[in-house]
Amino acid sequence: MNKFIVFILFTVFICQLCSVESTSHNVKAIYAFGDSYVDTGNVNHENGNLAWDKPYGILWPGYADGRFSDGQIETDYIAHYFNLSSPVPFNKILNHNTYNGINFAVGSSGVTYANKKPTLNVQINQFEECLENGIIRKQDLQNSIAFIGTGVNDYSSYKGSNETIPALVDNVVDGLAWNVLRLFKMGIHNILVSNLAPVSCFPQYTATYNYTHCLDNTTLTYKTQELHNIKLENAMTSLDKNVEGLKILLLDQSKAFQYLMDSASILGFEDSIIPCCKGAMDNDVLKCGKDDQYGHPLYSLCEDSTKALFWDGWHLTETAYEAIIQLYAFKLGFTKLADNLKSWL
Ligand SMILES: *[C@@H]1O[C@H](CO)[C@@H](O)[C@H](O)[C@H]1NC(C)=O
Ligand SMILES: *[C@@H]1O[C@H](CO)[C@@H](O)[C@H](O)[C@H]1NC(C)=O
Ligand SMILES: *[C@@H]1O[C@H](CO)[C@@H](O)[C@H](O)[C@H]1NC(C)=O
Ligand SMILES: *[C@@H]1O[C@H](CO)[C@@H](O)[C@H](O)[C@H]1NC(C)=O
Repeated sequence: MNKFIVFILFTVFICQLCSVESTSHNVKAIYAFGDSYVDTGNVNHENGNLAWDKPYGILWPGYADGRFSDGQIETDYIAHYFNLSSPVPFNKILNHNTYNGINFAVGSSGVTYANKKPTLNVQINQFEECLENGIIRKQDLQNSIAFIGTGVNDYSSYKGSNETIPALVDNVVDGLAWNVLRLFKMGIHNILVSNLAPVSCFPQYTATYNYTHCLDNTTLTYKTQELHNIKLENAMTSLDKNVEGLKILLLDQSKAFQYLMDSASILGFEDSIIPCCKGAMDNDVLKCGKDDQYGHPLYSLCEDSTKALFWDGWHLTETAYEAIIQLYAFKLGFTKLADNLKSWL
């Protein structure tokens, strides 16, 4: 036989081996839990929730659909990375297929009872009910992953004394760890968990200084976020090491956001400080999407939201979220417990 043909056959054979290897980890569904960084439309339509108002969703899908951005968010891009369509929001499962998973996240929620929204535990109870009544099939879970992003609202809505913050952090991190373990016991073995973004540099806080600087690193906001991230890393590392079969990927949101802010101009962002949708302070919240009694916007909108890092006081633009998921997927140093998404499964 011609040597060239032998070579071809040999490579085909090798490549079949690789494809067997990669398809064995094929992710078929994503179950998502958490707050507005994860929610794709569960948050209440009523009560003037701004994610359901203009100009949210202006870039994609072109109208407000309950996402807290101008377009798609982290959950959508994680799904796209795995070649899946975004998991359907839990409140829409009656009219949609759930083949690609379900998103249980609710904007403004936390691990504790933040803002009276369904807690992480409640969201995972809903997942459990879906499993019990057959909406989710147990045998599909071995090819599924979970994505959990929550915690910031536990701290931002906290009204207690400073002294008890470390206890609150313990509470939040324990709640996260407990629910990771619950998901594992129900059959999801691969779990993505986000740490907290560097909120002390978010427009919500920098607006107070006319966007000239972040809160400094002695403030309670900064220290709480640091403490949460350290304790979360310890807890997730311990679970990952000690629970046989559990594979956690810790997404270092803090580092990814910081990288985007520091390298904004290199990455093509014209504005990394002022939010594209710049509202007025309303009850201490920088609000995008409110109109006055005559229907005139009480906010200003940048010309091109794809050039801005921040969408509103708390959230990033679609372009920035996509960049974050690219960092998690392919770069080194933005995840913990594995090099990146690509090497994780
Ligand atoms: C998604 O599909 C593309 C093109 O078919 C493929 O190259 C890529 O490896 C797939 N990604 C994953 C995570 O399976
Ligand atoms: C809590 O800490 C912040 C920042 O360090 C400070 O401004 C505030 O006065 C403190 N509040 C109480 C009740 O100690
Ligand atoms: C805030 O910053 C803008 C732009 O740098 C400047 O035009 C404006 O005068 C500043 N406002 C105050 C109150 O300092
Ligand atoms: C933050 O704290 C570190 C020491 O822990 C210090 O070296 C650094 O200059 C501080 N940065 C800011 C922006 O305050």
